[in-house]
Amino acid sequence: MPVPTLLSQRLILRPFTLADAKRVQQLAGDYEIADTTGHMPHPYLDGMAEEWISTQEQDFADGSGATFGITLRKTGELMGAIGLSIHGHDRRAELGYWIGVAYWNRGYMSEAARRVIAYAFEDLKLNRVYASHFARNPASGHVMQNAGMTYEGTWRQHFVRWTEPEDLVYYGILKDEWKAETITR
Ligand SMILES: CC(C)(COP(=O)(O)OP(=O)(O)OC[C@H]1O[C@@H](n2cnc3c(N)ncnc32)[C@H](O)[C@@H]1OP(=O)(O)O)[C@@H](O)C(=O)NCCC(=O)NCCS
Repeated sequence: MPVPTLLSQRLILRPFTLADAKRVQQLAGDYEIADTTGHMPHPYLDGMAEEWISTQEQDFADGSGATFGITLRKTGELMGAIGLSIHGHDRRAELGYWIGVAYWNRGYMSEAARRVIAYAFEDLKLNRVYASHFARNPASGHVMQNAGMTYEGTWRQHFVRWTEPEDLVYYGILKDEWKAETITR
């Protein structure tokens, strides 16, 4: 079964294909993207995007992941990525995302995160979605808040991205909370 396509007001979240590889390399190759993600390679070399994309269908088939390209409804342009890393036994998934610098601060990631969280609860029948960001990346914390997630704590100096330990700020949302929120919004 292929990764589904999800619609929101301004976005189409769709599966990646190998035809997206050059665009992914161009967008994700920006140091500003790598800097605040946990594992984005930098420099982003030829072939890396193809390798990343080529595992996604199998990850979805075996229930370990769901990765979507974020495209603009109006133009179809690919802007970034959002995905769930799924732990089926625990009925939880970790949300991760990035979007090209040219598209920042227009509410796109908040919109994409809300849509993917709805997918996680409604379609994948998960119980919990969580995410973390470096403390020095407050914009990502805003995305999590905008998506209805609650601050759960900070893991101090938990992760070394480059040379220095980083504080990791955790957010989460439970299915019951999400239901309550959809009723009131
Ligand atoms: C983090 C990221 C995904 C945000 O995407 P985006 O589409 O710009 O997000 P949105 O426009 O939906 O929301 C951004 C929010 O951050 C806020 N923000 C932006 N810069 C900020 C800053 N320096 N300090 C505090 N808040 C900031 C915006 O005001 C907005 O919040 P609001 O809607 O409450 O006003 C994007 O910057 C990115 O891809 N960064 C690099 C990769 C990355 O960090 N990924 C996440 C790893 S956890």
